[in-house]
Amino acid sequence: MNKVELEKIKVKALQEHIPIIMDDTLEVIAKILQEKQPKRILEIGTAVGYSAICFSEYLADEGIIDTIERDEERIEEAKKNFVKAEVAGKIILHEGDAVEILPTLNEKYDVVFIDAAKGKYPFFLSEALRMLNDDGIIIADNILYKGYVMSDYNKHKQRTAVRNLREYIKETTENPALDTEILEVGDGLAISRFNNWGRGKKLKWEKGTVLFSHFWEFGTVLYWVGNFYTKNLSLWGWC
Ligand SMILES: C[S@@+](CC[C@H](N)C(=O)[O-])C[C@H]1O[C@@H](n2cnc3c(N)ncnc32)[C@H](O)[C@@H]1O
Repeated sequence: MNKVELEKIKVKALQEHIPIIMDDTLEVIAKILQEKQPKRILEIGTAVGYSAICFSEYLADEGIIDTIERDEERIEEAKKNFVKAEVAGKIILHEGDAVEILPTLNEKYDVVFIDAAKGKYPFFLSEALRMLNDDGIIIADNILYKGYVMSDYNKHKQRTAVRNLREYIKETTENPALDTEILEVGDGLAISRFNNWGRGKKLKWEKGTVLFSHFWEFGTVLYWVGNFYTKNLSLWGWC
């Protein structure tokens, strides 16, 4: 990767007020990627390609990043930037709305990075879970959205975004298949890892007995029943 060009891309993006990943957020993600050396990363929200270029440094040999962007000007700039940074061979840019593109993808990903329309985070999560590898990680940026998400903020046009970010946090923290931490770096970062339960792997019992479990299926059923109850039955006044 050409680091001189990368720095120029960053400076230009900041000058033009393109929202790119913050330094402290990048530092946290870089550590995760360094450890993981992913073969395949999915990024939702390319902008001008800055984060994808940074992530490409941590890919395993022959690793690939799929990244999705819908803004035409940013798409053109991202394409040029991938060439300038000498990483064009490692990044596939999908042009269009992630809501339409995601259902057409069927790869398996080691890491999914969500950094696009906040109102669509729950949908992005369900698509990420569908394509995540057994030991995969989902990372979502801007999850605390200027502090609105954890306050009693409930007004004007950001309301849908705030509601959907809260739903994302609820789903990732309550899903028994995921271990999720929310970090107060940048604008808030949610990191969710599939756990043993999520992988449906055998669990070791205290006395050394190996418990071959169907906990994954059981946990998932409980999770959806709970969700259905909270969203529907309790609203209709059923117990
Ligand atoms: C915060 S920026 C991404 C920054 C980039 N990840 C980085 O750190 O360099 C979010 C980008 O997502 C794009 N975006 C938002 N919603 C989208 C959607 N539904 N489909 C595709 N792109 C979307 C926006 O056009 C914007 O360029």
